[in-house]
Amino acid sequence: MRVPISELSRRRWLRAAGLISTGLGLAPAGARATGLHSGRLRTIDDLDTPAMIIDLDILEKNIREMQELCNRIPIPLQVHTKTHKNPEIARMQLRQGAVGICCQKLGEAEVMVAHGIYENILIPYNLVGEQKLVRLARLAKRARLTVAVDSEYTARGISEQLQRDGGRVRVLVEIDTGGRRTGVQSPQAALELAQKVSRLPNLELRGIMTYPSRIEAKPVLEETIDLFRKAGLPLDEISGGGTGAEAVSKEIGCNVTRSGSYAFEGLQRINTTTNPPNPTTCATRVIVTVVSTPTPERIIIDAGQKGFERNPPNPYGYVVDHPEARIYTMSVEHGHVDVRACSHKFRVGERLMVIPQHQETTLNLHEEVYGVRNGRIEVIWPVAGRGKLR
Ligand SMILES: Cc1ncc(COP(=O)(O)O)c(C=O)c1O
Repeated sequence: MRVPISELSRRRWLRAAGLISTGLGLAPAGARATGLHSGRLRTIDDLDTPAMIIDLDILEKNIREMQELCNRIPIPLQVHTKTHKNPEIARMQLRQGAVGICCQKLGEAEVMVAHGIYENILIPYNLVGEQKLVRLARLAKRARLTVAVDSEYTARGISEQLQRDGGRVRVLVEIDTGGRRTGVQSPQAALELAQKVSRLPNLELRGIMTYPSRIEAKPVLEETIDLFRKAGLPLDEISGGGTGAEAVSKEIGCNVTRSGSYAFEGLQRINTTTNPPNPTTCATRVIVTVVSTPTPERIIIDAGQKGFERNPPNPYGYVVDHPEARIYTMSVEHGHVDVRACSHKFRVGERLMVIPQHQETTLNLHEEVYGVRNGRIEVIWPVAGRGKLR
């Protein structure tokens, strides 16, 4: 019979293997982590590779600075946990002043609730299908949930499930203001859906949601707000979002903004051109080992698509200490690095640190991450929300 590997047995196994202590390890000052603590792993040199680390000083700085920014604007910040999938980091953000969390998938919200976060959880995702609705109704009994919808079908499904199982859920109507993903397509459509939602049992209409916040969205959002006001519909929440768009959220009329990537990337989203990965604002790194130096021009590292991401841009990421080195392609388990511009002579066995391009997709590939300060491991965090696609 196959025995499922529960979190408990996983911890027991890690402890027996000496990979975690009984809990006496150091926790990051801001974090008061209750996760797995380092045992024999004292410094990053003790880690086998590839290993993903989080620089705790940078993480704490990013969290602090974003909260300060939102306080200055001022606009309440609801933090998106898709970035780190980590209840401990979510708690750090809440302690800093965030008004709630936002989980892209129901499974991620379940993880956060299981770890004791119950208040003001937004799922900005159309929840469709009986399996999910049953889970949503169950979760709604334990936590204060808000969901975003962009169709009557979705709203009605949630309402009917809650009528069967009991409980209430708050609802935001999602409007597409130029992001061209989900959301109703006009202010009038938002009004009509909101009126339907307001009549559905067990749902509490709260307002509007959009993503991403863009300045061009202002007229559309203002028109929607106006229609809601005239119809006497609630506008407790007008929710915008996106790292770097906090002031824009305020400018276009939102009264709450959702940001996620900032925890790992800093106050501006990183990209390949205008704001490439920067070691002072990016909190994560993947430590890799050079496993081959087949030619003077090329070295191979022990992480590829399965350690970083499926479709890496070229050049990919940032090699700390050797920024002239360019990760130009990846096979599944190998990273190919062009070192022609480097004066350094790389050796097999040498370890490098790479800042991943899209830090949250990289994180989702790793079972655990190591919280590090000045090279010392302070905490080992399982990526609790990893793979929660449903
Ligand atoms: C609905 C929604 N809100 C907020 C965010 C946060 O965006 P960012 O990661 O840029 O902070 C996202 C990101 O995907 C999102 O999809």
